Amino acid sequence: MKLNRVDVDLGPRSYPVLIGNGLISELGQIVREQGLKQTAAFVLTNRQVGGKHFAKVRRALEKAAFTRVVRHNIPSVESGKSWKNLERTCKKLLEEFPDTGSVPLIFLLGGGVVGDLGGFAAGIFRRGVAFVQLPTSLLAAVDSSVGGKVAVNFSGVKNILGVFNQPRLVVCDLALLQTLDERQLRSGVSEVIKYGAVCRGSLFAELEAGALKKLMARDPDTLADVVHQSVEIKARVVEQDEFDKKGIRNVLNFGHTIGHGLELSAYHPEADASEAPTHGEAIAIGMVAATHLAMKLGMVDETFDRRLRGLLAVAGLPATMREFRAQQAGGDYPDLHERIIRAIQMDKKFRDGKNVFVLPTGIGSWRQVENVDWGLVNEAVRVVLA
Ligand SMILES: NC(=O)c1ccc[n+]([C@@H]2O[C@H](COP(=O)([O-])OP(=O)(O)OC[C@H]3O[C@@H](n4cnc5c(N)ncnc54)[C@H](O)[C@@H]3O)[C@@H](O)[C@H]2O)c1
Ligand SMILES: [Zn+2]
Repeated sequence: MKLNRVDVDLGPRSYPVLIGNGLISELGQIVREQGLKQTAAFVLTNRQVGGKHFAKVRRALEKAAFTRVVRHNIPSVESGKSWKNLERTCKKLLEEFPDTGSVPLIFLLGGGVVGDLGGFAAGIFRRGVAFVQLPTSLLAAVDSSVGGKVAVNFSGVKNILGVFNQPRLVVCDLALLQTLDERQLRSGVSEVIKYGAVCRGSLFAELEAGALKKLMARDPDTLADVVHQSVEIKARVVEQDEFDKKGIRNVLNFGHTIGHGLELSAYHPEADASEAPTHGEAIAIGMVAATHLAMKLGMVDETFDRRLRGLLAVAGLPATMREFRAQQAGGDYPDLHERIIRAIQMDKKFRDGKNVFVLPTGIGSWRQVENVDWGLVNEAVRVVLA
């Protein structure tokens, strides 16, 4: 079996990310090789992912002398990433593992929602319990499982309650990604395009030259290469700015300022969650909006915009809300423009009323720009909402 390994070098908090096909069947052994000696396991997942893949995890752990494997589900939608579900998860942990002698190793089997909520629970339960990320969505594989940012949404603000908490190990079994539905696959592809667009021009060019088509067809070699490159890019960024204090980690937010605003604004608790844009769809639209800002500020020309939109089109990702509505049922939200502006004003990066945007300066490069004229921001939002 071909195995790719990326080491995230964070001194005492270093850990490897292992990427390969069929890795889950060797999970127990891999965990032992990392020196993790627990005999109890707590597997956080959801019905959808757990239904398909939990049995394999349990079998692999039991083979490596785990005597107890407890499963807990959270909802399989973004709204499940809530304080309420964090509380329920901690309650379940306490009920199942009431004394210090029985602290389990926590496994997070799922996409970014399971990984973000579970990593937070692992960080606060008994002041911190070791955990292992088992990403099952492409988005989690290329982005959220690496880097240690864990959080829940609260009071209508995305990721506002959270901590930095690095996993002890990330095991990415690419075979698990085969059961992802098409739309969720696209959502992860959006982050891959982001890496190419602002971090690594050669990746962008490879995607244009055919890798994106193969990725959409889940070609195993392409999947392995793209996940490997993406994790490498993310690891190098995180190593330079683990706690997001130096501005370096901001690069990962290309498309996320307006994208997050859209993601949160379009979400209605009463509505069918499948009608709201996924994280990746929102980020695709957010990247187009940010590119509009960069063009207006003279940082890139139309070529960047054309190439970005070209890749989004190959992936079937929307560049605008009009395209989103054409692809998905629903998508008509009242006061969306105003709500996006209000949501982006809550952005964690904004200070003293000054906005901060990560904008491209060419394919594979970027710069942070502060205090972008709000009239221009409004215009960029209008362009993608039209
Ligand atoms: N911590 C970070 O650094 C970071 C980075 C990027 C995104 N995020 C967060 O990640 C979340 C989005 O992650 P996501 O896109 O993985 O969403 P998700 O966790 O909601 O997963 C998307 C859907 O796919 C399903 N799914 C996942 N794996 C599957 C599989 N193998 N087979 C079948 N179905 C599967 C899930 O049940 C869910 O319904 C957002 O909350 C975002 O804020 C965090
Ligand atoms: Zn993202």
